[in-house]
Amino acid sequence: MYALNAWYVAAWSTEVTREPARRTICEIPVVLYRAVDGRAVALEDRCPHRGYPLSAGRLVGDSIECGYHGFTFDCEGVCVRVPAQEIIPRRTFVRSFPVVEQDGWVWIWTGEKDLADVSKVPDTHWMTDPAWATVTHSFHFDCRAELIHDNLLDLTHESFIHTTTVGDDYIYKHGITVVVDGDVVSADRLMPSVAAPPLYATTMQLDGLWDRFHCTEFRAPSFHVLHSGITGEGRPREEGYLIKVLNGITPIDAHNAHYFYAFSRNFGVDQQWATDELVEGLKTVLQEDADALALQEIGLQTRPPGEFDVLIAQDAGVAKARKVMARLLAAERQGTITTADLEPSSS
Ligand code: FES
Ligand SMILES: [Fe+2]
Repeated sequence: MYALNAWYVAAWSTEVTREPARRTICEIPVVLYRAVDGRAVALEDRCPHRGYPLSAGRLVGDSIECGYHGFTFDCEGVCVRVPAQEIIPRRTFVRSFPVVEQDGWVWIWTGEKDLADVSKVPDTHWMTDPAWATVTHSFHFDCRAELIHDNLLDLTHESFIHTTTVGDDYIYKHGITVVVDGDVVSADRLMPSVAAPPLYATTMQLDGLWDRFHCTEFRAPSFHVLHSGITGEGRPREEGYLIKVLNGITPIDAHNAHYFYAFSRNFGVDQQWATDELVEGLKTVLQEDADALALQEIGLQTRPPGEFDVLIAQDAGVAKARKVMARLLAAERQGTITTADLEPSSS
């Protein structure tokens, strides 16, 4: 059901502190905290003694102590203390997850530990580049993660649900070019000689006609980089007002997802008023998506068996992405997470 051999955004860096935090990722309960040296730690959030969540316990140095009977686990998930007796039963451990912290995102690898390849963490360097300014939001979406992927790969919905911010009728009148490269699906749309949508026109301080573009780059199964912007008519994209919308989509369960959103821009970088406008405007955009996808989730849950989506040409990116996801899931079913993946490496 989930492509587990992947990096998923678990939290923003600011959310991982010396207070244990609980998060459910692909139906796995995870506790996140920082070791004394500042390193982010991710462990399964279920005590092997009797199932109490470790996140309800407390940190003791680098370890976490279960709040129920005091079993204590180090950063690798090894049980280092059972208060009521000297002997620690042999299979007393919790699973630990590889963690990468980069540009303000905390990623965890939910699959086979040997396959955790740090080079596969998506590039998000705009978040920390001083030539760019970034606005972030976090949302809980009442829908399966797949609906968010579809939403980002078919941006014609902007014409209908984002009319006051980033939408305009011309979007659905322009087709897309789709490219698949391994696990990356890109859907590119160029909209020549058009007006900027309301939120851009305000924050970019421009009027008249421009070439608008957006290219959704889906890095299956968990991240989208939306390369977007406005440039002069017939001019190269790199010359323009550029936006990188970074979208971390992390399944919670079959009907819920975490949405970690960052909007980086190369214009008005020092203009606080533009940042303030974008914070509010993008919150509106995301809430519109959240509301629409929650309704869609209800529609799908009540759809009779045997009825399927009717895809059109504008869904070419959606269709390709579904094929990539199906391949990842099929590969997942071939492999298995072994005992070695679950046990601490030092045990
Ligand atoms: S449930 Fe954790 S120590 Fe008992
Ligand atoms: Fe949207």
